[in-house]
Amino acid sequence: MRQGEAGSLKCRNFLTSMQKTRGTLGVISRYREYLPVTEATPIVSLSEGSTPLIHARELSELVQAEVYLKYEGLNPTCSFKDRGMTVAISKAAEQGAKAVLCASTGNTSASAAAYAARAGMQCVVILPAGRIAGGKMVQAYLYGARVVAIEGNFDDALRIVRELGERGHFVVVNSTNPHRLEGQKTAAFEIIEELGKAPDLHILPVGNAGNITAYWKGYREFYDLGRSNNLPVMLGVQASGAAPLYHGAPMDQPETLATAIRIGQPASWDGAMGAVKESLGEFDMVTDAEILAAQKWLASKEGVFAEPASVVPVALLLKIFQSKDHDLCRSKTIFSKLPANPTLVLTITGHGLKDPETASHALSEPLQAKATLEAVLKAIEVS
Ligand code: F0G
Repeated sequence: MRQGEAGSLKCRNFLTSMQKTRGTLGVISRYREYLPVTEATPIVSLSEGSTPLIHARELSELVQAEVYLKYEGLNPTCSFKDRGMTVAISKAAEQGAKAVLCASTGNTSASAAAYAARAGMQCVVILPAGRIAGGKMVQAYLYGARVVAIEGNFDDALRIVRELGERGHFVVVNSTNPHRLEGQKTAAFEIIEELGKAPDLHILPVGNAGNITAYWKGYREFYDLGRSNNLPVMLGVQASGAAPLYHGAPMDQPETLATAIRIGQPASWDGAMGAVKESLGEFDMVTDAEILAAQKWLASKEGVFAEPASVVPVALLLKIFQSKDHDLCRSKTIFSKLPANPTLVLTITGHGLKDPETASHALSEPLQAKATLEAVLKAIEVS
């Protein structure tokens, strides 16, 4: 073997072991052949995707199933949005775009701002004033976006963004941009590759309804390619104050403390309806009180801290399997039709640290003690 060959082999071995490390590849490098990119597409990536699929022991016991959490809060900007944003911003760069624009309840704007910064583009984000969680707001500013807060809700912001987008100065990177959904479908690919099959049931929060549309697309694509032999039932969960898909009609005044999904007129309405109908799934909803209880439960029982919108699937499972309100759940019958010991995947869409204000319901005054061992032992009642 010549010296150069040995060198390149060594380099290749190193790369293979690097690539085995979570987070080194990025969604486009990992799933290039399934995405709308070519040699001419400049790849704008922050090594997103390849997030952990965590087995949830307590939930599995509760539901009598194998329950897994697809923890999307471990993406570079701490939400699932990065999967779609790497594709949308790469395609915008390919078109020579100088500026991107989005409406957001906070996570899309954080992600758009980060990837635009990476691509050297300007980013404008339009947000509902006073209804964006603190962590997400800080991200938009730090990544250098121009932030506009409107006196209105997300649906108003998206209407304005669509109108502005038509003027041609900006590329819109909301999930109305089809490249976003292409990137987001890769989460379904990862789940199939890790489990060796699609789950029997997939549960996820639904707001603007892009993600449920994207997951269903991903599951279908791998099924059609023979990469999996089954399709999951899709169960979309909304907050009861912002549940247009559950009710089958848009809502004018959506309200929930899970601000990420405070949306009354989901843009991907048809995609979400299609996913639920074709998979024989359902939409269901949970209250804000149930969301807060589920957030604490998930963190303290499974060690996973998720933002309020991300725990609505957990809140639904707790409601069906632990509370006397289970008859209120429209999706209850789905569980009785699943095979014995079914496999469930819940998408945990965003990290808990995105929204420390809402999580502060769990805070209490710390125990006070003098700076001595004895005093600390006394405070924690260990003798
Ligand atoms: N979970 C989180 C944490 C979100 O930020 C969102 C949407 C969803 C769930 C719902 O996903 O819209 O695809 O149905 N956030 C958008 C945003 C609307 O602007 O960040 P969806």
